[in-house]
Formats: sequence, structure tokens, C-alpha cells
Amino acid sequence: MENVKAIIFDAYGTLFDVNSAAEKCKDKIGDKWERFANFWRTTQLEYTWLRSLMERHKDFWQVTEDSLDKSMKAFDIDPSMRNELLNLYKVLSPFEEVPETLKTLKEKKFKLAILSNGTPSLLDELVKSNNLDNLFDDIFSIEQVGVYKPSSRVYDIPIKKYNINKSEIAFLSANTWDVSGGGNYGYQSIWVNRNNNIFDNLDFKPKYQITDLNKLTQLV
Ligand code: LAC
Repeated sequence: MENVKAIIFDAYGTLFDVNSAAEKCKDKIGDKWERFANFWRTTQLEYTWLRSLMERHKDFWQVTEDSLDKSMKAFDIDPSMRNELLNLYKVLSPFEEVPETLKTLKEKKFKLAILSNGTPSLLDELVKSNNLDNLFDDIFSIEQVGVYKPSSRVYDIPIKKYNINKSEIAFLSANTWDVSGGGNYGYQSIWVNRNNNIFDNLDFKPKYQITDLNKLTQLV
């Protein structure tokens, strides 16, 4: 990759494992924990897209709670687990290779940032609880524009701050639709395909796909 001035990461699912909250409760939830976690995540994302289309914004924490309530009903999860799951969602674990990769990129003097649906306080807590707070130059939240990804108003946020060309940003996401969103906007988008998934048909195909973030240090 050439001409990369900033490396921008999606947060949920890319740096942080969204299934780790339910996984930590798998003894109580039982075998269905993973299906429940996937349903919660899918519902949460659907609510972000639907709220953006309806122009009825609620922040990501409220959307996370609303989607959890539906998912707990759908999977018959004991209501007493609600607070535990929400508290764990605030301190999701990073994927294993994330801390070291970020440190290496920082040493190479890349500008590093997060661009996420999360609220500023959620993202702040997430990076602090995982001791990653010194590694990022910026943490950009969609709350600045009040609409969710993949609106181009979201991908505009770092461009306005850094005053660089769209193609000078390497954008990484494990969420295929977010890779398409950033790619269609003009970023050099890279798909972090951790689980051998199939890409979307949304008018963009990434030039690079990597299986984990470790591979990024060889690309930039
Ligand atoms: C985010 C979601 C898309 O962090 O994972 O923006």
C-alpha cells in the first residue's frame, strides 16, 4: 500500500471481540451463547441502520440495550443477566494480536485512530480498560454527526480533522458492509476477514483482505 498517512480502525468486531461479553457468561447461558451473541450483534446493527433511515437517532449504548432486550427474549435468557451482559459489553476484550500490532504501527510513526458507531464515553472506557489509550491519536465517534455508518458523513469526520485525501487513509474493518462503506467513500479499505466469510455485493471489493491485524504491518 502506498501513500498511507493515517490508519483508521473500526472498533466493534475489528479491534474488540463483540462476542466476548456473552462468551464470559457461557456457563450460565449454555450452548446457545454464540447464537445468542450473533443475534444480539445483528439486531444491534439493524437498529443502527433502521434508525439512520428513520432519522430517529439514539446513541449506540441505547441501541445496544434495546437490541439486548429483544435478544434476551428471543433466546429466553434469564432477565437477571441483563446488567452483567451490559457491564461486560463496556469492557469487551481486544482480539489477541491487537495490542502488539498497534504498538508496532505506532513505532513506525503512523497516525492511528478509531472511527466507530460507539459513543465517545463507551470508546474511551473500552480503550482504557484494555490499556490501549496511549496508542491512538484520535477516537472518532459517529455522535459528532448523529447518523450511523455507512453514511458518508461518518467517513468524512477524519478527513475534515486531518485535511488529507481520502485515499491516504487505510481503513480496516471486519464488518463487510463497513469496508464497502469506507471503500465507496474513497478510503483504501482493507477487510479483516477473521472467519473465512463471504464479501458483500455493494459495489466495492477490497484490494486487500487479511485474516488478522498482524498482517497489516507487512502491508503498510
Ligand atoms: C463500529 C461498528 C460498526 O465500531 O462495529 O462502528
